[in-house]
Amino acid sequence: MNHTIIITGGAGFIGSHVVRRFVKNYPQYRIINLDKLTYAGNLSNLRDIERELNYEFVKGDIVDVDFLYKIFAKYTPNAIIHLAAESHVDRSIQSPMEFVKTNVIGTVNLLNAAKEFWKDHYSENRFYHVSTDEVYGSLGRTGMFTEETPYDPHSPYSASKASSDHFVRAYHDTYGLNTVISHCSNNYGSHHFPEKLIPLAINNIKNNIAIPIYGKGENVRDWLWVEDHARAIDLIFHKSEAGETYNIGGNNEWTNIALIKLLCRIMDNKLDRYEGSSEKLITYVKDRAGHDLRYAINADKLEKDLGWKPSIDFEQGLKLTVEWYLNNQEWLDTITNGSYLEYYNQQYVDRI
Ligand code: NAD
Ligand code: TYD
Repeated sequence: MNHTIIITGGAGFIGSHVVRRFVKNYPQYRIINLDKLTYAGNLSNLRDIERELNYEFVKGDIVDVDFLYKIFAKYTPNAIIHLAAESHVDRSIQSPMEFVKTNVIGTVNLLNAAKEFWKDHYSENRFYHVSTDEVYGSLGRTGMFTEETPYDPHSPYSASKASSDHFVRAYHDTYGLNTVISHCSNNYGSHHFPEKLIPLAINNIKNNIAIPIYGKGENVRDWLWVEDHARAIDLIFHKSEAGETYNIGGNNEWTNIALIKLLCRIMDNKLDRYEGSSEKLITYVKDRAGHDLRYAINADKLEKDLGWKPSIDFEQGLKLTVEWYLNNQEWLDTITNGSYLEYYNQQYVDRI
């Protein structure tokens, strides 16, 4: 099959796992990783596959319409898997407009390019939009998000993702683009940028720095192994009907404080510290503004339609994650000292 897929945001956390999976599993596809390399993009995430013949990296911004049209003309992609986004809620509270630009305008730019370049091929060319469970808002102590849950975003991040989802559906309903959307719960695993809860806590514990817990630590998240997310995206991309929506989740709810205590025990064990020493680093800090209480995903539809299930138990996944961070000290160091921005990514100048 002659298939060229542009994966946006492929140098980020989840995107790098999706790129790796597609490059390795589908040698017949040409995979173009289109990424702006913001602070969250790191090409060293893909060092193991960067020389594969079916992989190419292109540096660029999805907000730049001229650049996108040149890329579509040059590569004539048959599909887009769109992950590029500003993804951190705390940053969205500080700088909402960056989220509007990339998440909303960037997505509409991509949709417009697809609409323009795919004329007469709408049904065979797929536009896969990777969204989040956060667009559904916050749950109380019970209940789960289904694909029918009404949108109720609270943070600028989730509002921007919700807005982009509406545009994707509108381009399906109005122009007949072959779109698919999935909403996933919180991911964890290797190459996770250390501003998010789990990698931040791993880094702080290792360096004996306080672990900041927002509010009382009672907020609940449903954690999924990132490679299970990449496998779900692969399945949905290949098997879903056009216009479909799927929820993806770990069926794995943890309060933040219970999760951090489990992580502390794992770290004490791996670092040969006496039990209880890492827990002493837990520090309760001012709560996040508009902090959603609970997310929980009902992924029954994905299991029923496409046979997907999470593959790995949380404690096992967390141990593997801790091991990855401890064995890849350089990856963390180049981020915490900022050098990853200066040298590795700089070898790529804009080539288009
Ligand atoms: P990330 O922040 O780790 O990576 C985002 C990537 O997008 C980076 O490589 C960055 O350089 C790139 N990017 C940002 N702005 C860009 C622009 N204007 N043009 C081109 N590239 C740009 O994000 P992530 O955690 O891997 O999330 C990826 C996607 O999955 C996002 O769309 C996010 O909303 C969604 N999602 C994330 C989670 C999660 O737990 N992290 C859960 C559900 C859904
Ligand atoms: P995060 O990893 O930022 O993901 P999201 O906000 O998208 O769910 O945060 C996960 C949870 O951890 C969330 O309830 C906020 C909380 N949190 C802390 O308590 N301390 C921290 O330092 C961070 C980054 C998050």
